[in-house]
Amino acid sequence: MTKLLITGGAGFIGSNFVHYTLTNRPEYEITVIDKLTYAGNLDNLTSVMDKITFVKGDICDQNLMDDLVDKNDIVVHFAAESHNDNSLRNPQPFIQTNIVGTFTILESIRKFGKRLHHISTDEVYGDLALDDPAKFNENTPYNASSPYSSSKASSDLLVKAWIRSFGIKATISNCSNNYGPYQHIEKFIPRQITNILSGISPKLYGTGEQVRDWIHVDDHNSAVHTIIDKGVLGELYLIGANGEQNNKYVLETILELMGKDKTAYEHVNDRPGHDQRYAIDSTKLQTQLGWKPKYTDLRAGLQATIDWYQQNDSWWQNEKAKIEAAYAEKGQ
Ligand code: NAD
Ligand code: DAU
Repeated sequence: MTKLLITGGAGFIGSNFVHYTLTNRPEYEITVIDKLTYAGNLDNLTSVMDKITFVKGDICDQNLMDDLVDKNDIVVHFAAESHNDNSLRNPQPFIQTNIVGTFTILESIRKFGKRLHHISTDEVYGDLALDDPAKFNENTPYNASSPYSSSKASSDLLVKAWIRSFGIKATISNCSNNYGPYQHIEKFIPRQITNILSGISPKLYGTGEQVRDWIHVDDHNSAVHTIIDKGVLGELYLIGANGEQNNKYVLETILELMGKDKTAYEHVNDRPGHDQRYAIDSTKLQTQLGWKPKYTDLRAGLQATIDWYQQNDSWWQNEKAKIEAAYAEKGQ
């Protein structure tokens, strides 16, 4: 058995990665380390608790990370503060977890000579203009905009430096916007679905013309496994599934799929410094490693996601009022 240490495995993508791995890759023995911040939820793992080892802890704790990295073969590093709007309210935890936390893991990896896969975001490249046909690729210069994306860019640069300076065995992936089950209701798609389910009007920032490149979380995670299996050490891969849509279209589609009037939403205050467009060219991953996305029908994916939030209202209902109150303070 190969021993896999998954950081942030109680969050959205990390918990989906745990489920995906248990279903598709039984050769892995899984340990999850997660601090259980507001974004981590043990309920995401309840059904598999007897199949994994769970450790509650902070990736910034060097002794803990040394112990866990020493006991495992591969580290898949998802743990992060992940929400742009929170990084505009208080950047401090982003600097601590995303930068200091990644540094701490790198030091353990260096000490014990283990393999690391670092999970990052397309936001490290900044944004593209709405009328620019270009997409991000592996040679696009880093140009992050927000405290969140600059902390992720910093973490990537640390990984690159540890590869070059110390020869650690590591790969990096930068993925576009994920959607699917277990996504925190602070994020765009689940916020709007749970607004509609709660009788609250959906909220579109600014004009809603900003474009995101949506990918189903299982496609992200199958790509991560492909990189762990076949990725060249020291390399970085972009992950995306040609899912570009503007926010207005996504919101109108959600309203339509939920049987509501397509115009039944509010325009609210825009996000300061709002990135306009993200778009991924995943040719390298597709041609060099043979990966392909499976869930390319966004309407079908949104319908399945709506069904999940409808069927799992106890998963999100307790948090709803608090999240909306924090947004209301910013007129969002
Ligand atoms: P999330 O916020 O849902 O989950 C983050 C998890 O990390 C939570 O379980 C939280 O408790 C844990 N965590 C936070 N700080 C920690 C610490 N100091 N020590 C241990 N655990 C800690 O995030 P997500 O959306 O699942 O994102 C996971 C990763 O994927 C992040 O690195 C993010 O930058 C990256 N990413 C996300 C997307 C997306 O669309 N959500 C896209 C590309 C990349
Ligand atoms: O691109 C990858 C990134 O995608 C990840 O690195 C981040 O962790 C993840 O949160 C996501 O970042 P975004 O800022 O793009 O996602 P968010 O869900 O916050 O917003 C998506 C778009 O929707 C963005 O243009 C802002 C807009 N929006 C968001 C919210 C919460 C709204 O119009 N209304 C809303 O209520």
